[in-house]
Amino acid sequence: MSVGVGVLGTGVMGSEHARLLSRGIPDAHLAGVFDANAARAQAAAAGAIVFPDPKSLIKSDRVGAVIIASPDASHAELTLACLEAGKPVLCEKPLASSAADALRVVQAEAALKRRLIQVGYMRRFDPGYQEMKRIKDEGGVGATVLLHNVHRNVRVPEWFTGPMAVTNSFVHEIDVSRWLTGSEMVSAHVAGGPGGDPLMITMRTDRDEIVSTEVYINAAYGYHVHAELVGRQGTVALAPPSLTMRNKDRAGGISYPDNWIPRFADAYRRQLTDWISAVTTGIPVGASAWDGYVASAIAEQIAAGLAERHATTLKYPSRPSLYD
Ligand SMILES: NC(=O)c1ccc[n+]([C@@H]2O[C@H](COP(=O)([O-])OP(=O)(O)OC[C@H]3O[C@@H](n4cnc5c(N)ncnc54)[C@H](O)[C@@H]3O)[C@@H](O)[C@H]2O)c1
Repeated sequence: MSVGVGVLGTGVMGSEHARLLSRGIPDAHLAGVFDANAARAQAAAAGAIVFPDPKSLIKSDRVGAVIIASPDASHAELTLACLEAGKPVLCEKPLASSAADALRVVQAEAALKRRLIQVGYMRRFDPGYQEMKRIKDEGGVGATVLLHNVHRNVRVPEWFTGPMAVTNSFVHEIDVSRWLTGSEMVSAHVAGGPGGDPLMITMRTDRDEIVSTEVYINAAYGYHVHAELVGRQGTVALAPPSLTMRNKDRAGGISYPDNWIPRFADAYRRQLTDWISAVTTGIPVGASAWDGYVASAIAEQIAAGLAERHATTLKYPSRPSLYD
């Protein structure tokens, strides 16, 4: 049976999820949408129901599962409403706009004793990252000693302020670094470039590995995400994200996209496909609510230490057994 999916928030990400659902995610269809901006909801609905408010979408019998792609500040309350209705939910990252709110969501799900939440850390579904993880897990480069990440955007809008480079962008590297290494982050140090952009964030793991990340939100030349894992016997890195290389005007190379949608198109589609399988089989995949909480908790502690520029010892409570 096809799962009817309701999408909350149909801006850049939500309309992409809605588009993918309308174009053929196996065993799923777009059941309806809600957006605070009615015209945007109408444009993304593609013939599905436009709900008058989020609660009516979440409660609707036509909606078997929910995607939350509204602004960060709305994620926790909408996710809690999905838990209350017993509906599986794919919540865009971050899980909440504060670690305290993310922990409330974890506690509500742990109390239900049922995994209903997946957080949209879609790099876990990117073919390149998956290949890196497979090679690392098979011991293909020996024990990990370092992971280098690069996260560059063309530019960000004015409302995207200092801490958001950490709490909205760098959260991707927190999640993908925990997932790739299988380690927990125990401390972090941040150095800011001129004007605070780029940031250079170094974390140390509970296995003494180093995770370095450049977060450069106004890098001008293109949207560029890179990772290289360094082991005792070799390294494994993402290849340039392009099928072709062009030579022209005495120069050669690849083109970079303007934003994340083309770069992670495969990852978004595979994330949705695997999430729908998880909804139908009840076997969770991807980042859990706990993973979402840990990413937000680390980001918040690093953001708080931004001004101080000394190493931050990261703290979080022990993991509830639901997430073992
Ligand atoms: N996984 C990723 O790679 C990725 C990439 C970009 C954004 N995101 C996340 O997706 C979310 C949306 O980002 P975006 O870039 O699409 O933003 P956006 O501004 O393009 O879209 C947000 C939409 O939400 C609507 N909205 C506002 N309040 C709402 C509410 N209470 N209920 C429903 N809709 C509401 C707005 O009208 C707007 O259309 C953010 O949390 C962001 O962090 C994830």
